[in-house]
Amino acid sequence: MFGKKKQRPVIDKAQLELIENAQRRIKQKKKLYAHFILFLIGCILLIIANTVLDIGATLTFAGINWFVYAISAWFLLFVYHAFNVFVTQKFMGKAWEQQQLEKLVSQQQERINQLKNELKKEELLKAKSALFNDSISTNPTIAPTTTQYTIIVAVAENNTIGKNNQLIWHLSKDLKRFKTLTSGHYIIMGRKTFESFPKPLPNRTHVVITSQQNYTVPEGVIVVNSLEEAMQVSKADHSPFIIGGGQIYKQALSLADRIELTRVHHDFEGDTFFPDVDAAVWEETHNEFHAKDAEHKYDFSFITYKRK
Ligand SMILES: NC(=O)c1ccc[n+]([C@@H]2O[C@H](COP(=O)([O-])OP(=O)(O)OC[C@H]3O[C@@H](n4cnc5c(N)ncnc54)[C@H](OP(=O)(O)O)[C@@H]3O)[C@@H](O)[C@H]2O)c1
Repeated sequence: MFGKKKQRPVIDKAQLELIENAQRRIKQKKKLYAHFILFLIGCILLIIANTVLDIGATLTFAGINWFVYAISAWFLLFVYHAFNVFVTQKFMGKAWEQQQLEKLVSQQQERINQLKNELKKEELLKAKSALFNDSISTNPTIAPTTTQYTIIVAVAENNTIGKNNQLIWHLSKDLKRFKTLTSGHYIIMGRKTFESFPKPLPNRTHVVITSQQNYTVPEGVIVVNSLEEAMQVSKADHSPFIIGGGQIYKQALSLADRIELTRVHHDFEGDTFFPDVDAAVWEETHNEFHAKDAEHKYDFSFITYKRK
């Protein structure tokens, strides 16, 4: 992107060297084994040549048959070969191999982390570039974007939205509406709201805001360090949703274009709140009342606000 040649992941020089060393080591051991077999066969043949076929039967040195000298010399050669493999090359022993393997694994882990970071940066750049293109393609003084940010929230009459990092009420129609509206979209949330889910919600791209640098999440979840960054990343979607909780709503209220608010007509005790919706800023464009019934313990209304 941006004229910069994308780097392909390649095996680097150090990794290649480790692999080559391991292959060389295997070859050395195989050769030693072949030498040993050859030595055994050679010994047998020399003994047969001398004692059965009478080759050089009378040839002795200091009263010892020549084949004993030949076998001894060969044995010394074999010992020298074994010495080379197991002593001279000691640094390539099992412990060395294990050490090299660990080094290789840690290098690869480092490479994976590096690629993950590069991917995150690339997503950010992509989002920023989309924002830039949007702004220059229209009047630069107004610079509207095609992305509409929607806050989606369920709020009690006294503005409570949660307690002990959990929702307080259960309204199945509200949950269904949340699913219908947000499915297929980016959903932006604070770290605490993310942790209140048993697992990521299906068919949605999660963007989690945290100040932690090494916050780990399941694959596919995007971690960012500010609301601004979350909004940039979500530019890949034309209609991302800001789904809470209290801290994020407070920061996002001045930036959002629309609010899909479920007003639960009851007061609840809680520890997290939604700010007042300022009628001077927000215009109510839709209001749909639902009376309580067998499945819904409280009256509630689906209300849509658009920024004036
Ligand atoms: N009724 C509803 O519709 C609704 C919807 C969603 C949530 N909720 C409720 O809301 C409650 C959770 O809300 P909450 O206010 O406690 O937490 P939250 O907004 O979900 O998350 C707060 C965390 O987000 C991170 N964060 C916030 N602003 C940041 C910034 N500018 N830069 C970097 N990181 C930032 C921080 O994470 P670190 O501490 O990791 O830095 C902070 O601790 C729960 O009770 C939940 O059930 C209700």
